[in-house]
Amino acid sequence: MNSFEVEALNRRLAGAPPDVILQEALRLHPEGLRLACSLGLEDMALLHLIRRAELPIGAFVLDTGRLHPETYDLLALAQDQYAPLQVHFPEATAVEAYVNTEGLDAFRRSLALRKACCAIRKVEPLKRALQGASGWITGLRRDQSPTRTGLGAFELDWAHGGILKVNPLIDWSLEDTWAYLKAQGVPVNPLHHQGYPSIGCAPCTRAIAPGEDPRAGRWWWESPEHKECGLHRVHGP
Ligand code: ADX
Ligand code: SF4
Repeated sequence: MNSFEVEALNRRLAGAPPDVILQEALRLHPEGLRLACSLGLEDMALLHLIRRAELPIGAFVLDTGRLHPETYDLLALAQDQYAPLQVHFPEATAVEAYVNTEGLDAFRRSLALRKACCAIRKVEPLKRALQGASGWITGLRRDQSPTRTGLGAFELDWAHGGILKVNPLIDWSLEDTWAYLKAQGVPVNPLHHQGYPSIGCAPCTRAIAPGEDPRAGRWWWESPEHKECGLHRVHGP
């Protein structure tokens, strides 16, 4: 596909429900699609939808090694309930070099050190997780952050060789997502009920106060335009 075809697809499917977007992705790529599942509420909705409909889509989790205990509990549960769920770890030698040179929590010292940690613990494992994939599915929603307002349901991901990137929940609000999860009885991270709408690594996520921006608790010491870890850069390095 080229970028004009992707634009046309986004126009044709504007406002379409997630299952229709997934069916279109499968029509384009019957094999090799993979869900990137962070175990956050959007991804639990997608994992449930995909497994319930028995769609031929794989799923993987990037275990950064710094997740909350509650997230590890949900991972174990999801492996039972929604298998198969492939787990990818960061390269041990890269983590050791970072921790021993810069310090375990060096990501607080500068944006560069934060991005370096995300590069080792998330971005490089994602590259491995997507090897041989024809496309990947994410739980990105447009209203999650100022960095995501311009996204479409379909993108070309040049950071991963131009494969298709599919965001089936792109038009859903937080309320739409919760309504689906509740109606379907999908297991979710208990932290969502303790002020964590968006959950990443434990040291880089805090609870938010009522009325605060949903992503205010992610890398809270940084300004909003920097709050991306590099997983969703589709234009290459
Ligand atoms: S992040 O870039 O700020 O970390 P966010 O937590 O909003 O991303 O998640 C957006 C999407 O990125 C998720 O819906 C999921 O598809 C993917 N993603 C993020 N973290 C992970 C992870 N640890 N494992 C797998 N996929 C992930
Ligand atoms: Fe490292 Fe924090 Fe990024 Fe996790 S979110 S990879 S701990 S900088």
